[in-house]
Amino acid sequence: MAASIVKRVNRVKKLNVSHISARYKFLTGSRHFSTSKQWNKALVLGVYENESTDSIDFTGTARKFDEKADGQISQLLLTVKKPLKCGKTRTLHAVDPEFSSVLVTCIGKRGEGYDELETVDKGRESIRAAVAKAVLQLRELGENEIEVDSCGDTEASAEGCHLALFSYDDLKAEKSRKPAVRISCATRYSQDKNSMEKEWRKGAILAEGQNLSRRLMEMPANLLTPTKFAEIVKEQLADKCEVLVRDKDWAESMKMGSFLSVARGSVEPPVFLEIEYKGRQSDSPLALVGKGVTFDTGGISIKPSQGMDAMRGDMGGAACVAGSLLSVSKLQLPVHVKAFIPLCENMPSGSATKPGDVVTAMNGKTIQVDNTDAEGRLILADALCYSEQFNPSLILDMATLTGAIDVALGAGAAGVFTNSEDMWNKLQKASVRSGDRVWRMPLFNHYTKKITECQLADLNNIGGSRSGGACTAAAFLKEFVNNKNWLHLDIAGVMSNSGDVAYLGKGMSGRPTRTVIEFINLMSKETNN
Ligand code: BES
Ligand code: ZN
Ligand code: ZN
Repeated sequence: MAASIVKRVNRVKKLNVSHISARYKFLTGSRHFSTSKQWNKALVLGVYENESTDSIDFTGTARKFDEKADGQISQLLLTVKKPLKCGKTRTLHAVDPEFSSVLVTCIGKRGEGYDELETVDKGRESIRAAVAKAVLQLRELGENEIEVDSCGDTEASAEGCHLALFSYDDLKAEKSRKPAVRISCATRYSQDKNSMEKEWRKGAILAEGQNLSRRLMEMPANLLTPTKFAEIVKEQLADKCEVLVRDKDWAESMKMGSFLSVARGSVEPPVFLEIEYKGRQSDSPLALVGKGVTFDTGGISIKPSQGMDAMRGDMGGAACVAGSLLSVSKLQLPVHVKAFIPLCENMPSGSATKPGDVVTAMNGKTIQVDNTDAEGRLILADALCYSEQFNPSLILDMATLTGAIDVALGAGAAGVFTNSEDMWNKLQKASVRSGDRVWRMPLFNHYTKKITECQLADLNNIGGSRSGGACTAAAFLKEFVNNKNWLHLDIAGVMSNSGDVAYLGKGMSGRPTRTVIEFINLMSKETNN
C-alpha cells in the first residue's frame, strides 16, 4: 500500500510541467538508441499481387534475396494456396542467417499509377501502406533493426516506414513507450546505391517534417504554450533559418488589433513568429502563414466540453508551417521562404473579447466579433496583412479553421481556396506525389456578401448562418489579401487521423505537411522565388 502511494506521488511529480520539460528531449525523427542494445535484424520484401498459385511476382530487390536464399522464400510462400492480396503480409523465420524475420508485404498490382477519380498515385500509396504495416508488425515481434525493400519507389518506401514508426509517448513511463527501431533501405543489390540512398534520405526528411508537425500538434496545451512553441521552433530551425520571436508590444506597435483581441482572454502572452529560410537570394519570397491557436476553448462563445481536448491541435497550421520549413531547409531547396505564425490561446476570462465587440485589424478594417470561437480568421487577418509587406510571390496559409470543412470533406482532403488556377494546379500536382490530397473550394462573392453585411463594422467575423461555413471563413480572409497568388488551406477536417490513412497511426496527423513541401519543391524550380 505504502509503496503504491509513493509510486503515485512520483507519477504526479512527473507530470509537473517544469519537471517534464527538464527531462524531455524534443525529438523529430527516430528515437535515441542505446549502444549496449542487442540488435534483432529483420528484412521487409515486397511482392506484387498475382493470381497465379505457382509463382511469386517479386520486386527486383526481393527476387535477388530469394535467389540468395536458394528460392526458399518463394517456396515457403507457395506452400499455402491463397496468393497474397494488396496490404496483406506473411512473416517467415529462419530463411536467412542474417535476419531473424523476413516479412513479405504485398504492394498491390504491378504498374499501378495515377488514378484520376481518386486523384492519387495508387502505386505510391500502396507502397507507403504496405511497408508501414510491415515495420509495425516487426516492431511488435521485437525486431529493432529493419532493412526495407525500396519496392520500386524508394522515396515512398522511406516515407511509409518513417511515418508509421512515429509515436508520441514521451510523457509516458519508459516501459509503456514504443521501442526504438532502426530502419534502412535494402540497397545491396541496387545498380546505383548512391541515388537510392539519396531518394531514401529525401523520403525520410519528408516524413521527419510531418512528424515534427504531428508532435507539436499532439503536445498538450499546458506544455505547448505560444512561448514554448517558439522555443521549440528555434531549437529545430535556428541553424538553418533566421527565427524572430516577436512579443505583444511588437504586435501592438504593428496595430495587430485583430490578433491581440483573441490573445487578451489568456494569461499566456501571445507570440508572433517570423521565420526566414534563404536557400536562394530573391526579392519576392514565398510566404507561409499558419494559425497558431495553442488551445481553442471558443472564448466567451465557449465550446461544448466533449472533445474539447482536440483543440490542443488548433495550432495545426502553425505546426505544418514549422514541419515544412524543417524539411525544406534539410533538403536545402533553392528557394526563399518567409513564414508568419501568430500564436495565442483563445480563453474566456474577465479580459476576454465579448460577442459584439469591434476590433481593428492592421489594414484599418473594423471587425464585429459576433462569435469569439471564430478566432482563427481574426489572428490570420493580421498575419496575412503583415506578410504582404514582404512582396511575396505567393501566400499560402494553413489553418484548422472551420468545423464546416470537416462536414464537407471529412479527412478525405484539405480544402483549398485560391484565386489562382496556376497555383491550384501546382498544389494538386504536389498532392498527387505526396498522397495527401487537396480539394478546391469556391471563393464566390456570394460568401463575401455574408460577412460584409454587418451592423457595427466593416466586417462581421461570422457569416450569419451555418451554411457554407468554410467558404464564409475563406471569404473573410480574402478581405486581408491583395496578392494574386493566394492559397488558403482549411485543414480542420484532416487535423487528426482515426484510421483513415493506413500509414499514420491514430492521433494528430500533421497533414498536409508533405504536400506543402512538394509544392515548395515545385515552386523552387520556377525562377522568381
Ligand atoms: N478551431 C475551430 C475549428 C475546428 C473544428 C478545428 C474542428 C478542428 C476541428 C475554429 O476556431 C472554430 O471554432 N470555428 C467555428 C466557427 C464558427 C463559430 C463560425 C466552427 O467551425 O464551428
Ligand atoms: Zn474557435
Ligand atoms: Zn480555432
